[in-house]
Amino acid sequence: MRLGLLGCGNVGSSLVKLIFENQGSIKEKSGESIELAAIVIRDPKAFRPNWIPKELLTTDVMAVINDPSIDVIVEVMGGIHPAKEYVEAALLAKKSVVTANKALLAESYFELEELADSVGRDIFFEAAVAGGIPLIRSLRVSLAGEKLKRVIGIVNGTTNFILTRMDEEGLSYDVALELARQLGYAEADPRADIEGIDAASKAAILASIAFGKKVRFKDVSREGITKVTASDFEFARRHGYTIKLLALCERLFENEEFLDVRVFPALVPKTHPLASVRDAFNAIFVEGDAVGELMFYGRGAGGAPTASAVLGDIMDAAHNLRFGSTERRIERKDVVMAPVERLSGSFLIAVDVNDAPGVLAQVATVFGENGVSINSMEQLGFMNQARLIFLTHDSLEQDVINTLAKLEELDCVRSLRQAMRVLSEED
Ligand SMILES: NC(=O)c1ccc[n+]([C@@H]2O[C@H](COP(=O)([O-])OP(=O)(O)OC[C@H]3O[C@@H](n4cnc5c(N)ncnc54)[C@H](OP(=O)(O)O)[C@@H]3O)[C@@H](O)[C@H]2O)c1
Repeated sequence: MRLGLLGCGNVGSSLVKLIFENQGSIKEKSGESIELAAIVIRDPKAFRPNWIPKELLTTDVMAVINDPSIDVIVEVMGGIHPAKEYVEAALLAKKSVVTANKALLAESYFELEELADSVGRDIFFEAAVAGGIPLIRSLRVSLAGEKLKRVIGIVNGTTNFILTRMDEEGLSYDVALELARQLGYAEADPRADIEGIDAASKAAILASIAFGKKVRFKDVSREGITKVTASDFEFARRHGYTIKLLALCERLFENEEFLDVRVFPALVPKTHPLASVRDAFNAIFVEGDAVGELMFYGRGAGGAPTASAVLGDIMDAAHNLRFGSTERRIERKDVVMAPVERLSGSFLIAVDVNDAPGVLAQVATVFGENGVSINSMEQLGFMNQARLIFLTHDSLEQDVINTLAKLEELDCVRSLRQAMRVLSEED
């Protein structure tokens, strides 16, 4: 089986190494030998590790895609364009495609899947979500017969690293982000991670696979970690919580089609298994009616773990080409997202107010009038200002939104922190 590789950065160069190192076991396990035919790069002068065969490097991507002797194209370039056009061209040239590109898939998975179907080829993407953790294949194949209820977890290592440092070392958000940059966990431009864009791309893919629907990036509601403060962590610690950026894909209500797919920072009880997922690790809980709870844990990024997932896909693609088969395909319907008035949860709401008599009563009244029941409250005073921190009982999200809007209208309210969801021990 001859392979054309598009991209030779972190993942691509690790994949080349893995193919060379594992050639024997690949042949033993799959009956196939993988022959690397060409490696497409952008900059011929850029540094390459010494195991990269220089004679295979080329910038002529269309020559590789249209080479009739190449069977499988691996796209590890990243970005949506021109990666999308290259993947389409590869499928039209009757190559099977393996990609690790979550941004591309969250935008165009369904079109690419249909195209692959129409030409009788595969598109595999195990590495696009949670790097080396075998999650996509588990959802798509092993759990195909399961009625899944929920997929929830930590799918972005960069933000988990930042939040872990804020929790364990008491660092401010800015200092933790700078540390993540220095250690290579965060990009120079970290927006895709800290604004939850990367996690939302993964949530869209996960929800599509887990629930057999068409869930696109634009369907995912998203809040990143940029507003999480050291004082949120102080509160969390005092009350037995930590804070994690979670991706949630959930089927709501037994007999309805609604899905809730979102990315949000949440207070997670220290006793919850997700609380112990530290630094750049990922962990994902999958809950099904029959199988119960499953937890997938491991390295969600990094050249070698991601290349391992890509290599598994390459072997599947090669197998299917050899036996003239393809992956199982399903008819996906458009997703129906749960309307906000059907969503509920428990929330942390922090309100900075003038420290004056009667203010607490005014604020508490707004909660009551909007149907939000207070579970506990803490007051921290400083100068002539005070911070009121409320934990609510399970409340309708719409009621919480109304409460925040009304609080903002009060003269005594100086600033309002967006409501943060609180996971319970049972969640
Ligand atoms: N890194 C991870 O841990 C990880 C984990 C999971 C998924 N992924 C996904 O894997 C993909 C690759 O990530 P990466 O970290 O390996 O990226 P990277 O280090 O930036 O490497 C990208 C490679 O693609 C080449 N390239 C980019 N645009 C090109 C173009 N227009 N034409 C030809 N070549 C082009 C670059 O060429 P030059 O070398 O010449 O610049 C480089 O070799 C992304 O979709 C990413 O989201 C990465």
